Amino acid sequence: MGNILIAPSLLAANFLNLENEIKMLNESQADYIHLDVMDGMFVPNISYGVPVIQAIQKVAKKPFDIHLMIEKPERYLETYIDLGAKILSIHIEACTHLHRAIDFIKSKGCLAGVAINPHTSVDVLADIIKEIDVVNVMSVNPGFGGQKFIQSTYSKINRLHSLIKFNNAQTMIQIDGGVNLENAAILAASGADLLVAGAFVFSSDNPKHTIELLKNID
Ligand code: DX5
Ligand code: ZN
Repeated sequence: MGNILIAPSLLAANFLNLENEIKMLNESQADYIHLDVMDGMFVPNISYGVPVIQAIQKVAKKPFDIHLMIEKPERYLETYIDLGAKILSIHIEACTHLHRAIDFIKSKGCLAGVAINPHTSVDVLADIIKEIDVVNVMSVNPGFGGQKFIQSTYSKINRLHSLIKFNNAQTMIQIDGGVNLENAAILAASGADLLVAGAFVFSSDNPKHTIELLKNID
């Protein structure tokens, strides 16, 4: 408990007003800016990529948490590391040589994140958990913002927490999708370290205040 980290997801921001959205995040209590990169293959949607993140980089003062929802993410690790990722997450379902990819991300001084889809068991992480800095537990099916939180995520966090403790690993647990003020406190109490929130933040009347509320749930 205590010190929950918050990463607002820019997917739900007003893209016509991106500069001001980033400035708002700079002034907020956000710990990271969560950037969702989608390729229309691994997920059915296409979001934004390199040129947009390059532009964001010029204004952003918060570290980037880049979530790659793309097939064969190995092809783009260096590109997104060069764009200033502090955390770079790839999907276990999209990456054949996960160990190598994690090694590469860490060798560049970034935190290595592994995202798992709602249907993926945490058991597949058993042999690699000690190498992973952040597990992104998807609490919606990736591809879209504004979806409903999947309830089975709670028991998944418990199992992941046990796996981390059993292995004496330092891995952070990130929850991504459908996070709001109702579930955030339960997630934090269950062992989540880092919460992503898109629609809940950017659709609220006062996003900066909403971030503050999330930051102070525990
Ligand atoms: C879903 C993305 C999430 C999404 C979260 O594919 O990975 O990061 O932007 O948005 P909300 O909080 O609206 O579910
Ligand atoms: Zn995401």
